[in-house]
Amino acid sequence: MDKFKLAPSLLSADFSNLGNSALEAEKGGADLLHVDVMAGHFVPNISFGSAVMKSLNDITALNYDVHLMIENPGDYIEDFVCEKTEYITVHQEACLHAHRILQKIRSLGVKAGISLNPATPLCMLEEILTDVDLVLIMSVNPGFGGQKFIPSSLDKIKRLAEVRRERDLDFLIEVDGGVTLENASDIARAGADILVAGSAVFGASDVAARTRAFKELK
Ligand code: DX5
Ligand code: ZN
Repeated sequence: MDKFKLAPSLLSADFSNLGNSALEAEKGGADLLHVDVMAGHFVPNISFGSAVMKSLNDITALNYDVHLMIENPGDYIEDFVCEKTEYITVHQEACLHAHRILQKIRSLGVKAGISLNPATPLCMLEEILTDVDLVLIMSVNPGFGGQKFIPSSLDKIKRLAEVRRERDLDFLIEVDGGVTLENASDIARAGADILVAGSAVFGASDVAARTRAFKELK
């Protein structure tokens, strides 16, 4: 298994002390901070916006991995761009003009990602795979932390990795939802390069130690 990157999701962090949560994850060796943005339409939950994300700018050295679970994501890209924004990912299901939005993200100097809900087949990305830096496979239905990994996601990840090989493409595969210490190695072996973990990291009493435990998995 190639070593995976870990992106702890702030959605499960202590909202009254986000800075400390981010620092603990950083101390444990996290690679990115996953920023889940929800506005009550695309998913039935509301999380936080760009001001909350940017409040961490001077606190952590970790870069942001922004996951926009919102309708009309193209209207909000600029808000989430700052020096520490490494990826912005939009949902295929929320984009009428995915190509235009992905180009916009790249034009702002940020890596562009596209995400699929569990019910959306990989073929929906066929024409766009050459234009993305990252494909985010949702392994739960988006909207909430702490859900159970959908087992069929493993096969979807494997098939996507196979398409990447066949077409000689170099986007990264990220997996989000229900990632735990128990299933992380299998998910990485299936082809995932970045694992998002919310409750499995921030639900631990020692966040830094839990982050380290993920990074030490074989
Ligand atoms: C779900 C979010 C996830 C969430 C994952 O809609 O996109 O990033 O925070 O939480 P866990 O790891 O607890 O499933
Ligand atoms: Zn997410």
